[in-house]
Amino acid sequence: MAAGQAERPAGDLEDLEVRLLLEAIYHRYGYDFRQYALSSIKRRIRHHMREEGLGNVSRLQERLLHQPANFDRFVSVLTVPVTSMFRDPAFFAAFREKAAPLLRTYPFLRFWHAGCSTGEEVYSMAILLEEEGLYERCRIYATDMNEAMLREAQKGHFPVSSMQVNTANYLNAAGRGPFSRYYTVKGDHAIFEPRLRRNVVFALHNLATDGAFNEFNAVFCRNVLIYFNKGLQDRVHGLLYESLGQFGYLGLGSKESLRLTPFEARYEELDGHGKLYRKVA
Ligand SMILES: C[S@@+](CC[C@H](N)C(=O)[O-])C[C@H]1O[C@@H](n2cnc3c(N)ncnc32)[C@H](O)[C@@H]1O
Repeated sequence: MAAGQAERPAGDLEDLEVRLLLEAIYHRYGYDFRQYALSSIKRRIRHHMREEGLGNVSRLQERLLHQPANFDRFVSVLTVPVTSMFRDPAFFAAFREKAAPLLRTYPFLRFWHAGCSTGEEVYSMAILLEEEGLYERCRIYATDMNEAMLREAQKGHFPVSSMQVNTANYLNAAGRGPFSRYYTVKGDHAIFEPRLRRNVVFALHNLATDGAFNEFNAVFCRNVLIYFNKGLQDRVHGLLYESLGQFGYLGLGSKESLRLTPFEARYEELDGHGKLYRKVA
């Protein structure tokens, strides 16, 4: 230690190791987690290290740099896949009531689900759009940075154990008729009707590093921004804004908002509870 330099407390040392790890991952694999909220990243890394019996973050770094086979699993450690169908039903109810009637005036519609996880949100929107008579004129882009999740999303098979919650959410989102007409049960899975993904394009897209790729009538980025720090949140809000056409709709997660972002004044709030916004000119 250099003369006069005090020893760092253990917490600081862990922060330093985590920052070095994220920097190393970025340079080795091109995945940029450097602007994710540090507290939740640390929590997940600690949990992973306990499971893998690794004593400190530097050991983990060594393993990830020299054994790429471990990296894909580590991406799943850092990205939180938690989702459900019609999650936050107030959002879907608001979209059905406040956006669908106006969207009927468009001949063709493009939607983007950014951070779609295993696809439950996308199939939910397809069902809502079908019930509102809009699905046939829609193209839905469903993206995530995690390839394993996209593979699951493409299948449209969800655990039967989740169907009680999914059905309750659907009914609370003003769903029409029995939810069971959209799937058949095989073993432990509810297999959703293939027509619900006929108009869906699943693709890799990283909100931290990739740019806009189309212009949309509605963009949904729900329960993703909470994992980012303010700098990355602002970047993503810029990307979402740029991706929306005039009067396009924006859907956020229940704990997310536009408050204190540079884009607050560029949207009108259509439903505060449902986190539904509309881009103003
Ligand atoms: C908690 S899930 C939310 C899923 C769904 N939108 C919902 O609200 O139920 C968060 C998703 O964001 C994805 N994600 C995290 N960082 C991302 C990034 N930089 N670019 C794209 N997707 C990301 C994760 O892979 C995960 O699938």
